[in-house]
Amino acid sequence: MHIVVLGGTGYVGRAVQEALLSHGHQIKVIARKGPVADGAQFVAGDVRDMDLATPFDEADAVVNLVGIIEESPAQQITFELMHVEVVRRVISAMSAVRVRRLVQMSALGTRPGARARYHKTKWIAEDLIRHTSGLQFTILRPSLLFGGGAPFFKMLQSQAKWPITPIPGSGNTQFDPVYRGNVAEFAALVLDNPNDAMGETFEMGGPERFSLNTMYRRAAQSVGKKQIMPWHIPYGLMMNLARFGENLPGFPVSVDQLLMLAENNTTDDRRWMQWVAPTPLGKDL
Ligand SMILES: NC(=O)c1ccc[n+]([C@@H]2O[C@H](COP(=O)([O-])OP(=O)(O)OC[C@H]3O[C@@H](n4cnc5c(N)ncnc54)[C@H](OP(=O)(O)O)[C@@H]3O)[C@@H](O)[C@H]2O)c1
Repeated sequence: MHIVVLGGTGYVGRAVQEALLSHGHQIKVIARKGPVADGAQFVAGDVRDMDLATPFDEADAVVNLVGIIEESPAQQITFELMHVEVVRRVISAMSAVRVRRLVQMSALGTRPGARARYHKTKWIAEDLIRHTSGLQFTILRPSLLFGGGAPFFKMLQSQAKWPITPIPGSGNTQFDPVYRGNVAEFAALVLDNPNDAMGETFEMGGPERFSLNTMYRRAAQSVGKKQIMPWHIPYGLMMNLARFGENLPGFPVSVDQLLMLAENNTTDDRRWMQWVAPTPLGKDL
C-alpha cells in the first residue's frame, strides 16, 4: 500500500516508519524536518497550513501521529490547533482526494469530560473522525510509551539521578506503560487487516501495571542507581508552581501534564495483545 504518515519523524513515528516498511508498504512521511528511514519518502511541510491533498493523492491510507504534549501559544502551537484543527484539515484533504482509510493516534485517558486539555482535544478529534468524517478509521489510544529512549522515561531517569527526586503527589497513580515497538507493529497490522479493525478504537496498555513511584524506581535502576530519595510534593503546590513556571524555558512540567499524572492511566482492553505479543518493561526504556 501507499501510506502517508503525518508526524512520522517523532518518537512514535520512527518506529511506525520501520514497521510499515517491514510490512512492505511504500511510505511518505510528512513533518517539518527530516530525516526519515531509508526507503521512505520525505515531504517537508507544516500540517497547520500546508496543502495536504497533494501528498494524499493516490495514497491508500493515512496515519496521523501529529500531537503535542505541551503548548507554545506564542508559536501558534496549541492543543486545539494541533489536535483538533489539524484533524479537520486531514479529514477534509482525505475526502477531497477520496482516500478512505485513516489510523489516528490518540491517547489513553481521552474521554468526554477529561480534565487535561491534551485529553479533551484528543477526544474532540476522535469525535470528529468517528461521527463526521465518513472515513474508514481505526483509533489507537496507547498509555505511556516506553522503549528506544522514551522522553517520559528519560525525564524520570534524569530526575532519579538527583540527590532528592521530586515526585508529584503520593506517586500512587497507576499506569500501563506500553512498548513503542508493539504500538508501531499494531498500527501496521490494523492497516493490513481492515476488516478486523475498521471503526474500532483500541486502548493499548502494556502487560504490567506500575505506580508512578515504581516507574521512578525502575528508571533509577536503569541508570545504575539502587535507590532514590523521593520527595512527594503535593499536587496543589506543584500546580501553583506550574501555573507560574510552565511558560519559562526549562520548567519541567505543565499544569496539563500534572492533571494527567494525577489520574490513573490504565485499561482493561487487551484486544491488541491477540495481534502482537506484548513486551514487558525491561532495560530498554
Ligand atoms: N509518546 C507517548 O508516550 C505517547 C503516548 C500516547 C499517545 N501518544 C501520541 O502519539 C503521537 C506521536 O507522539 P510522539 O511522542 O511521537 O511525539 P513527537 O516525538 O513530538 O513527534 C511529533 C511528530 O509530529 C511532527 N510535527 C509536530 N508539529 C508539526 C507541524 N506543525 N507540522 C508537521 N509536523 C509536525 C514532528 O515533526 P517536526 O517537529 O519535524 O515537524 C514529529 O514528527 C501523538 O499524537 C501523541 O499524542 C504518544
